[in-house]
Amino acid sequence: MTITTPDGFTQRWRQPPNFTLEVGFDYVFLPAVDILDYVRRDEGVRFTLLGDDDWQVCMDRTAAFRTAPIEEVVTWTFRLVHFNLSRFYADLLHGFQEEVMVPWRSHLSAQGFTWQRLAPVLFLSTAGAASTYHNDNSHGLVWQVHGAKTFHSYLEPDEHLAADAAVLGETTGEEPPEHDESDRQSVTMRPGDQLWSHALTPHWVTTESALAMSVTLSHGGLCHQGCFSERELALRAYWDENPDEAWVHDLRNVRY
Ligand SMILES: [Fe+2]
Repeated sequence: MTITTPDGFTQRWRQPPNFTLEVGFDYVFLPAVDILDYVRRDEGVRFTLLGDDDWQVCMDRTAAFRTAPIEEVVTWTFRLVHFNLSRFYADLLHGFQEEVMVPWRSHLSAQGFTWQRLAPVLFLSTAGAASTYHNDNSHGLVWQVHGAKTFHSYLEPDEHLAADAAVLGETTGEEPPEHDESDRQSVTMRPGDQLWSHALTPHWVTTESALAMSVTLSHGGLCHQGCFSERELALRAYWDENPDEAWVHDLRNVRY
């Protein structure tokens, strides 16, 4: 069921599974290929060339990724992420702060939420490219912008990965482990679709179109009237015992 009201969100956000939601942002992005062409040359971008081509082809494409003709690059199999979009608020993402970040923060705040970090992340990928199997320390409002992706997670994450194990990042791999298909929640997302990805739950994303672009608003330390989500309590407990590690996972082991 898609969550369309503030009350619905406030009730559903604390436990998995993930759910679809509708947040009406006014913002209109530039064409995905233009965004790709711009961010691929930014020093903050991270990309991984994939596919069945031999190792040398992957190496050559990696070396040429920022400078090859964009029409050629979009035919390669890759995934790309950019975690520092605020540097584009004045140009490539003009208006994004005013039309997305400020309204969303104001909305959350009005509902009684607080947080410690809230920032957008950009994901671009091409046909055949999948994310790793991983979990994040943050809740994500995933917003599909261009093309299609399928967001895979589990209906009952506890049965696949305990919160304590998720905190230690024991999940990460290129592929999900063997599992029963009926345990899975797979949501195919098309332009405008949104999904709430619960913190510390394992997931993976597959690309379902030639080029796909999504933006995730990533929420660290989200808290409603003093209460964290249940899984996040495990993270807080771990950081209490290991204060030197607080937040470093977000910075050091970025997974996508
Ligand atoms: Fe993720």
